Amino acid sequence: MGIVIKDDDSHRPIKCREMAIPSTVAQKWTTTMTKFALIYVLLINLITSPLAMAGQCYSCAGTCHREPCNCQMGSCEADYCFIERKPDEIPGSWRITKGCLKRPSRTRSGCDFDNSSNHIQCVCAGDFCNEAIYMYTQIRRNVTCKMCPERDPECSDTCQGQWCHEDAVTGATGCGYGPPSLPFFYKGPELLYHRNKLCVTLSRGNNAKPWKYCICNTHLCNDPTQRIHYAHDHGGNVRAAVDSDGSVTRSRSVSHNRIADRLPLHKCVSCDTTSQADTMTSACKQNHCHGHFCTLATKRFVKAGNTAMRYGLQSIIHEQQGCINVTDTHKIQLGCSHKWMNNEEEELFCACSGALCNSDLGSASRSTASRLLPNVFQTVFSILSFRVLLNFAF
Ligand SMILES: *[C@@H]1O[C@H](CO)[C@@H](O)[C@H](O)[C@H]1NC(C)=O
Ligand SMILES: *[C@@H]1O[C@H](CO)[C@@H](O)[C@H](O)[C@H]1NC(C)=O
Ligand SMILES: *[C@@H]1O[C@H](CO)[C@@H](O)[C@H](O)[C@H]1NC(C)=O
Repeated sequence: MGIVIKDDDSHRPIKCREMAIPSTVAQKWTTTMTKFALIYVLLINLITSPLAMAGQCYSCAGTCHREPCNCQMGSCEADYCFIERKPDEIPGSWRITKGCLKRPSRTRSGCDFDNSSNHIQCVCAGDFCNEAIYMYTQIRRNVTCKMCPERDPECSDTCQGQWCHEDAVTGATGCGYGPPSLPFFYKGPELLYHRNKLCVTLSRGNNAKPWKYCICNTHLCNDPTQRIHYAHDHGGNVRAAVDSDGSVTRSRSVSHNRIADRLPLHKCVSCDTTSQADTMTSACKQNHCHGHFCTLATKRFVKAGNTAMRYGLQSIIHEQQGCINVTDTHKIQLGCSHKWMNNEEEELFCACSGALCNSDLGSASRSTASRLLPNVFQTVFSILSFRVLLNFAF
């Protein structure tokens, strides 16, 4: 990924009213969350590579109605920091959040958006590096993709992006920007270096229909009708699929099946629960699914309802356990990626290999390949962070 033209409009640090968490919330938090805090502290120790050097990050959130928009208070400690900026529910306003990351899924530091230009995410390493959003316009390939909503998957709209995505179950399609991203995979351009298309099938929760999501980077590769069209010549003979830019698309379906056949299937817990922190139930922990890998995703957040002022805020935990099947194991992120912001929000994404390895966070974070990946990942990451720093100095 070469460099990078500075985008002057978004380069300036942006500032706005800060939103502090009331201390009563923090107190309530400590009483109801003691059990979980222990688990999380243990987990932080488990998933931190001994080589990683922890630094300080800003940890705050705010809602803004106009520029400049920023928050600069609170802190947390981790080897990586993040800033995220996305539209708020109220039109015309947006929300900025900053915090800490362990084992981030992004393979490169910097700011980017992968689906909507309104939703910017930055990852960086170094003390308080998440001060502001520094956006760089990257020179990347342009690819035409089909762009249809779920309610009209057969539409004829297209978009120009850097990669295409497709929900193979609903038929919804569109363009992706920034580093290609697929759930439970590392997010980086390397994701589509070795093949033109990558899919993941997820199932989680009780009797949930599997969700199949694919990303690809050739002309109209997310359009099933185009794929058929290109695979036949006028005489009806099947020939190599050729994209309009002249590059030959590798035959994909055959190798997909071979990889899928080689991978052992594991039995995993399949469960989807939302609960208040102190009423965690385990009703669906007996349900199972089978897949190449097991997954565990937990999101904890503080809910501010209408009654918040009167009864205090409530902490909600949403936990999903399930299975994934993949078309390629290259760049799958085993172990847990952990993201948190003060006491307000926390997210964990884990993939693991082994029977019932997703039954709890401890075993999910201890996945076999996670011992191998971090060192390579961190070396690459620090080289790239250094390059990014050079860009900042420029
Ligand atoms: C991309 O963004 C659109 C709205 O901008 C949203 O509806 C869609 O679910 C997003 N897709 C993914 C894969 O995140
Ligand atoms: C790529 O697509 C964008 C968005 O449509 C367009 O503005 C830009 O000119 C395109 N770049 C090239 C090199 O075709
Ligand atoms: C994965 O593939 C296996 C074998 O084809 C199938 O039994 C299982 O249901 C699939 N799991 C998911 C999550 O799609």
